[in-house]
Amino acid sequence: MKRLLVSRALPDSVMQVLRAEFDVTLRPTTQPMSEDEASAALMGYDAVLPTLGDGFTADAIGRVDEPRCKILANFGVGYNHIDVGAAAAKGITVTNTPGALTDATADIAMMLILMAARRAGEGERMVRSGQWTGWHPVQMLGMHIGGKTVGIIGMGRIGKAIAKRCHDGFGMDVVFHNRSNVADAGVPAKQLGSLADVMTIADVIVVAVPGSPETYHLIDAAALKAMQPHAYLVNISRGDVIDEAALIATLQAGEIAGAGLDVYEQEPHVPDTLKALDNVVLLPHLGTNAEEVRANMGMMAVENLRAFFNGAQVPNRV
Ligand code: GLV
Repeated sequence: MKRLLVSRALPDSVMQVLRAEFDVTLRPTTQPMSEDEASAALMGYDAVLPTLGDGFTADAIGRVDEPRCKILANFGVGYNHIDVGAAAAKGITVTNTPGALTDATADIAMMLILMAARRAGEGERMVRSGQWTGWHPVQMLGMHIGGKTVGIIGMGRIGKAIAKRCHDGFGMDVVFHNRSNVADAGVPAKQLGSLADVMTIADVIVVAVPGSPETYHLIDAAALKAMQPHAYLVNISRGDVIDEAALIATLQAGEIAGAGLDVYEQEPHVPDTLKALDNVVLLPHLGTNAEEVRANMGMMAVENLRAFFNGAQVPNRV
């Protein structure tokens, strides 16, 4: 049996399958692997099943001369914690789990849009703290999203699923920014010439690009400046796609209406200055947190491992 390191416990159904087919070692923690652990894993195992935040950096991979590990079967669609170029240079295949989590992540985007625009977090805090004095016609007014324009940054699988929900479900107009030309967004949607155009026009911006060196701080102070004062910003991708400090300053200055965030630059650290703001909804990276979705993601990782060791075409090589 091949030696497999599983970096964090997966749903039981997935662990059972893995244990039947591999000699599994499971790390006894929910914390990400350090770079030292990543290097050691590349020496000691035939395969690793890593996930969010595990330290497979260029440095960690580069240190290992002849890795025993030949595949990093990532659990999750985002693999910004793995230096794919460094892995390729050492003959290590990297796979991910796209598709299985598209709808669940798009759902969280909708939840954040609604929670931010309809002030749900704020309202919940009011009820729980005993501050609610009763309904009245101008209590806690927010923004109606029907008929508004959503601007989607990154029209990949998840961007398209968000566009569908916004258009079909909420009657929103859809504009978007994407690095390459998108022939079919799935619903009527207009690709605009620049990021600034989308930031300027939309009432709600949703960030759905993968985290990578190319998208680091894509939403910077200038992009935030372009937003309208009544607009909301939602991020379900990776925290560092937004310049978090610039966003905090923008929110503090009241230059946009609010934000809904599922991801942060230094997870799990959420700056106190962000927590102090009432016009932000803060979720703990819930993008894929449905039981069946996590099981499906796990089974995709299993399929990738199986195909790799059977010498078959690996379905989700990145
Ligand atoms: C979760 O954030 C993922 O990348 O799958």
